Amino acid sequence: MPSQLFARKPLSLLLEEMAGENRLRRILGPITLTSLGVGAIIGTGIFVLTGIAAHDKTGPALTLSFVVAGTTCVFAALCYAEFASMVPVAGSAYTYAYATLGELFAWIIGWDLILEYAVGSATVAHGWSHYFQNFIGLFGWKLPLAVSTAPFNYSPETGKLVATGAIIDLPAVLIALVVTLILVKGIKESAGFNATMVAIKLVVVLFVIAVGAYFVKSSNWSPFAPYGLTGVSFFGNTIVGQTGKGGEPLGMLAGAATIFFAYIGFDSVSTHAEEAKNPRRDVPIGIIASLLICTVLYIAVAAVLTGMVPYDQINIDAPVSYAFAAVGMPWAQFVISLGALTGITSVLLVMMLSQPRVMLAMARDGLVPPGFFGAVHPRFRTPWKSTMLTGAFVAVLAGFLPLRILAELVNIGTLLAFVIVCAAVLIMRRTNPQAERPFRVPFSPVTPILGIASCLLLMFSLPAENWWRLFVWLAVGFIIYFGYGRRHSVMRRYLAKQAAEPKPPGAAGGAG
Ligand code: ALA
Repeated sequence: MPSQLFARKPLSLLLEEMAGENRLRRILGPITLTSLGVGAIIGTGIFVLTGIAAHDKTGPALTLSFVVAGTTCVFAALCYAEFASMVPVAGSAYTYAYATLGELFAWIIGWDLILEYAVGSATVAHGWSHYFQNFIGLFGWKLPLAVSTAPFNYSPETGKLVATGAIIDLPAVLIALVVTLILVKGIKESAGFNATMVAIKLVVVLFVIAVGAYFVKSSNWSPFAPYGLTGVSFFGNTIVGQTGKGGEPLGMLAGAATIFFAYIGFDSVSTHAEEAKNPRRDVPIGIIASLLICTVLYIAVAAVLTGMVPYDQINIDAPVSYAFAAVGMPWAQFVISLGALTGITSVLLVMMLSQPRVMLAMARDGLVPPGFFGAVHPRFRTPWKSTMLTGAFVAVLAGFLPLRILAELVNIGTLLAFVIVCAAVLIMRRTNPQAERPFRVPFSPVTPILGIASCLLLMFSLPAENWWRLFVWLAVGFIIYFGYGRRHSVMRRYLAKQAAEPKPPGAAGGAG
């Protein structure tokens, strides 16, 4: 039934579902939504990946990497905002794709979002572990090597994977399990609690910028781009820029592809659409404002960090904290580690909360088994089975795979999701030109096309093996879709029913 593959969920049906079901209370305004966005964004990317990027790929040009990745995200965020204003229902990009591109693309994006949320959570848990170990180190404690990190890691010196001598990253596993338990029991997605966490991390980031600025030596910014300003490869063949020992692209763009991770999370604002007081106006504001705030802060942190420490001496485990030790302010490490731990925990909570919600949306559509992924705990009212599966998956990945590999896989997956969302805006403008769009992407089609192009550019600035990993991941997804999802799809039944009934005059297929 090929028509099923591209059958679109009608807009009217989405809005009907939204009106019909028990929905959450509409209590969130634009400031709270922006705060939720910032809560989901600032974490491992800025506190950890900046070190890896500056040290191995960009040097001080890291600042420009943040400008490039931030601009890419702004294009995508504008597209998300248009959808969020049109279809203010939970489910995010998965739901948007179902309404515009049909079931197969919805599946691809839903499957892809696992890379963003679940593999992203494992990456974030790793970052948490780095700062946890940095924090206990301030008291002279050190974990045994065996439980301190993943068993292997990528070595830029040799371009190969090397054994670390460790067996498991125990703190990363433990934080993933603790967060799972909290989520199974159910935290009221308390905006107040989030606001406190966000306030703490913002104070720490502003502290880093304001105090760090005093220690900047402009000589550290020279050479500005030791690895060049590009770094693009096509399946392992460098097109522009320098190449690392392992064949990976180096340079400012390659760095942008790495620290892109730092921006992931703004899209999570769209998952709160059902709780927004005025979703059509406030959700776009929340998405764009949180992204812009973080972009400005990130550029400032990158400039300060690379100005405080020569790029080749930047620490790759807890770079922000170590930069202050390097300039003779070891006590600041205490403040920064605590802030980083708080900030990273709040990101982990949002990401691990989002994953089961996407699966829930897919289960409602019949694409994954509803008995498992749609199961809601009778007492806690949470999707507990799916949350526990997510927790186990995150714990295993975080325990055994290195940060760098996880982060790059998340980036390529999320960039693909952004490409699809930008394309979906273009398609929706053609297929549903008259639909109400309280927020419209400015300068369409230029903005969505720039979004697609810049996301693809960053995808090609990642080491080539990520493409193969992405293809394998998608292939597994197709096996599951064609083996299960396609046959159990609610849309399939809907179409079969429609086909059996005489068509009312003037009825059109597709999104309506
Ligand atoms: N942007 C989030 C972080 O950096 C995922 O931790």
